[in-house]
Amino acid sequence: MTDKTDVPETVPLEEIDLSDPDAFAERVPHEWFRTLRREDPVHFNPEPDGPGFWAVTRYEDIREVHRQWDIYSSEVGGTSLEDLEPDQIEARKSMIDLDPPRHDEIRRLIKSRFAPRAVKEWEDQVRGVTQQVLDVALPKGEFDFVREVSSEIPMQVFAEILGIPQEERRYIIELGDHLLGGQDPEYAQAYEDHAHRLLPFSSPAALEMFEFGRKIAEERRHDQKDDIITQLAFGGLTQREYDVNFVLLATAGNETTRHTITHGLLALMEYPDQLERLRNDPDLFSSATEEMLRWATPVHHFRRTTTCGTELEGTEIPAGAKVTTWFTSGNHDETVFENPAAFDIGREPSRHVGHMTFGPGGKHFCLGAHLARLEVRVVFEELLKRAAEFELTGPPERLRSNFFNGIKRLPVRVKA
Ligand code: HEM
Repeated sequence: MTDKTDVPETVPLEEIDLSDPDAFAERVPHEWFRTLRREDPVHFNPEPDGPGFWAVTRYEDIREVHRQWDIYSSEVGGTSLEDLEPDQIEARKSMIDLDPPRHDEIRRLIKSRFAPRAVKEWEDQVRGVTQQVLDVALPKGEFDFVREVSSEIPMQVFAEILGIPQEERRYIIELGDHLLGGQDPEYAQAYEDHAHRLLPFSSPAALEMFEFGRKIAEERRHDQKDDIITQLAFGGLTQREYDVNFVLLATAGNETTRHTITHGLLALMEYPDQLERLRNDPDLFSSATEEMLRWATPVHHFRRTTTCGTELEGTEIPAGAKVTTWFTSGNHDETVFENPAAFDIGREPSRHVGHMTFGPGGKHFCLGAHLARLEVRVVFEELLKRAAEFELTGPPERLRSNFFNGIKRLPVRVKA
């Protein structure tokens, strides 16, 4: 890991380029965000092969953008920085890339399934999956924590909740992996494939995921269950809407939860005093989960497109502009978080409500937030019960991406 003392407090504005994934390859450039929050909170960032985008970095401004969904649209240009053609945007529109009213209609179909009370009922299943995964991984002693633990759990939980049989789980997990990955050269090839431009992530794996989703829907036609798939499949969606929303559900909680768990363990290894504190006080698991979420901020930003000319922090933004909101920066805003650079598993609950890892609130607030919280808490409860010591055996390998704050590999030694 980079020695934090080498990092400057701020940098000249002209050195900042948030479009460059290399800037995120070694670590999150927090000094850039600090500079932007202080000096240019609504900053225009040119792009080498695009129109450029506005970067919003202060906590309150990010909230404002997400609150005003009619000015800052998710539907006009999608939610990713990449500029898609209108037919691509249209073909890929899951609820995350829609504005009201259609967004609300689709979300309403399944939102009760993700409410705190409903999610609480999955706790035993999540714990069961976690125990199985740890039973396989921990006896190995030395292993890649991402491969063996943090990538396994979210997809296993997803498969469990959807009632996917054990023998098909490996397949859906691998499909999920192929769909994601983005700018990292290790996974990039799908993105250059023109033939699949109308598919989510421009990836042929999306077609297989569609097929898989249709197969489960077909099963429900004969054997209706009181579950998410039945609600989504028979809720009046078009085939395309069902397909893309199935892919959204299969992918949204995958890498995000994985990276939170990985960063969580890494943080506990880097801050042994916090690990000790957690071991001594199990009441802290919930607040530790919130701090891991803030610390990890697995999704750096999302994008909106302005539907009219507007103004934010005194800066004029024209109609049709790309506007990005940087949750990473909001989560380190010193006007909201005291000493934001400290990993403190006991941050006061009133402040926890405030992290924006799941978005800052508003129409698109993460549907899976309670499920993700449950997973992270249960993983660390079970892990700390079983393991006495953790040690890095090599450097963590980061994902090269300005979208995901990801770790690809975390080589560890774990002693029972
Ligand atoms: C640590 C894990 C996770 C993180 C960091 C995360 C983050 C996010 C963020 C930042 C958004 C957009 C918020 C906005 O625009 O205001 C979002 C939306 C969403 N997330 Fe998550 N997420 C996580 C886990 C999950 C899980 C487990 C699921 C469940 C399947 C899920 C399903 C969704 C869905 C369906 C949306 C779109 C909601 C909408 O457009 O109304 N997420 N998530």
